[in-house]
Amino acid sequence: MTPGNIDLKAEQEKTLRTPRHRYSFLARVLFLTMDVFYGRRKSLSKFKVLEVIARVPYQSWEHVAYIAMTHTYSKPGFARRVFEFVRESRQQQDNEQWHLLILEEMVQKKGIRETFFLYRIVPQIIAFFYYHVSWLLYAIKPAYSYSLNADFEDHAEHEYMEYVRDHPGLEEEPFESDFKQDYGDYGTVADLFRRIALDERLHKEESLSRIQSARFS
Ligand SMILES: [Fe+2]
Ligand SMILES: [Fe+2]
Repeated sequence: MTPGNIDLKAEQEKTLRTPRHRYSFLARVLFLTMDVFYGRRKSLSKFKVLEVIARVPYQSWEHVAYIAMTHTYSKPGFARRVFEFVRESRQQQDNEQWHLLILEEMVQKKGIRETFFLYRIVPQIIAFFYYHVSWLLYAIKPAYSYSLNADFEDHAEHEYMEYVRDHPGLEEEPFESDFKQDYGDYGTVADLFRRIALDERLHKEESLSRIQSARFS
């Protein structure tokens, strides 16, 4: 039984049955950049890079929202709605942070070697650019930034679910972690990754719903 009583295998099937988004030009540039540096093959180290980058849009939205609150706190009702948005963004950012810490712990336990340049410097450079792109798109029109994030999350969801499908050994690998208290106690690494993928789907749906509400507000 998994925390929350979710049938994670059924969720995996659902992702695998669902075609990927038709990714935008910017999203494709981002994925191509990652493939150039880390190869097309999915790996724990590559997922870690993905998670470093995944937090960035939420940080950029939070930043913009705080600027908005500085300018609008004389209208407390409006500022409060902005603050609610900040809270949600922060939750998703925190969720990505757990993904990153769990993966880092796993990489260290397995003794996977990573070069400082490729796995510390380059992800920060990519994150730096992605932050500014997210920020700029948000400033032009929030829906553009949500849409880019939805593509990113859709990609992450599929990558994790396909990784589980392609590595049946993960079904036998117990999930041992110092972060179980924080993230949840999943029996196997397969279920852990299914849960992470499901988080990515929820992040995607959140961004898509923001596009919708921006359209009708
Ligand atoms: Fe994530
Ligand atoms: Fe995500």
